[in-house]
Amino acid sequence: MFANSYCGVPEICQTTTARKVRQAKRQLQSGKLETISYFSFRTLKEASKNFHECNLLGKGGFGPVYRGKLQDGRLVAIKKLSFEKSHQGEAEFLAEVRMITSIQHKNLVRLLGCCCEGPQRVLVYEYMKNRSLDRIIYGKSNQYLNWKTRFQIILGIARGLQYLHEESHIRIVHRDIKASNILLDGNFQPKIGDFGLARFFPEDQAYLSTTFAGTLGYTAPEYVIRGELSEKADIYSFGVVVLEIISGRRNTDLTLSSETQYLPEYAWKLYERSKMINLIDPRMQKDGFSVREVMKTIHVALLCLQPLPDIRPAMSEIVAMLTWKAEMVKSPIKPAFLDRRRRENDENVSRETISNGFPSLETESPSLTQPPNSREFDVKGEIIV
Ligand SMILES: Nc1ncnc2c1ncn2[C@@H]1O[C@H](COP(=O)(O)OP(=O)(O)OP(=O)(O)O)[C@@H](O)[C@H]1O
Ligand SMILES: [Mg+2]
Repeated sequence: MFANSYCGVPEICQTTTARKVRQAKRQLQSGKLETISYFSFRTLKEASKNFHECNLLGKGGFGPVYRGKLQDGRLVAIKKLSFEKSHQGEAEFLAEVRMITSIQHKNLVRLLGCCCEGPQRVLVYEYMKNRSLDRIIYGKSNQYLNWKTRFQIILGIARGLQYLHEESHIRIVHRDIKASNILLDGNFQPKIGDFGLARFFPEDQAYLSTTFAGTLGYTAPEYVIRGELSEKADIYSFGVVVLEIISGRRNTDLTLSSETQYLPEYAWKLYERSKMINLIDPRMQKDGFSVREVMKTIHVALLCLQPLPDIRPAMSEIVAMLTWKAEMVKSPIKPAFLDRRRRENDENVSRETISNGFPSLETESPSLTQPPNSREFDVKGEIIV
């Protein structure tokens, strides 16, 4: 009986997959995939000068990205997906590409098309002139952003995420919101990149993308600890990105004094001391800024960083607060922090180890009216490992 029910599952899956494949092929033949372009591998090779090093824009967890120039003069970003395990067949890959291409919003990077020849799986995106936010706020670029532009970026990211979470015909949790996945066009309008990418990878491999290989700094505690994934994990990461934009630094910087090394922790300390003004990138003083608007934005970021996913605001609420359409009545609860000594001493902190010391996720949500520095939350909100 066991054997029967066990065997039954893959059979159902195979039938569903076969149906999907047939459907994709039919759509291909009937020309319903006209919204996406197909590029031959040769075209992309030519566009990127044989994937030359000088055209390498960067390499993340999903594979290298090259700048390319198509014959019609259009600039594109060419992402060669690298797979470690067996992956989708051609029709399934095309079906996923079609799905992602159908999600369009002015704050999402457009997927223009793809290539799938033999083992090659390549995605072709619109090229973003000002590349990614990380390069500008704490990277090698010398560009300076005033508050108006920074706020435009924050609001644009919020609107892009609102679309992915609440408005698109398919609900998408990005999973990897971070400064390098925020791309900027020629006018510094932000566009979120890499949404839907996890769909091309087996579940376990997608989960182990650069988010986990790199710093844990952007990742929501419930995702680190239990792999619990919802829109609220993106909202947590959004909160971290907002703090990075306002302070002009990366979320973890071990070269700084110990109190300031971890940005959310430092921001919380300043909040408790009513010194949030110290968080602001001093370079912003040059062009001036509205203190009220910056303070409100930091407050929103702290609401996003709250330890319990249920009490983090939804993206539509965040947009409403940022645009003054909703009042900010809630006080944030202390974020969950990893213990510093443990982080420094042991790079391979296991998820189990962290979760042992993280009881707050198992308890009921605390009242929102509780004052922010109540002792109860000081204890419950902290990860002690
Ligand atoms: N559409 C694009 N236009 C211009 N530059 C891009 C584009 N897409 C990516 N890049 C550049 O290529 C770099 C590498 O991107 P990639 O997505 O591979 O890495 P990542 O964002 O650092 O990590 P992850 O794989 O987790 O997303 C980015 O940091 C960005 O500077
Ligand atoms: Mg990326």
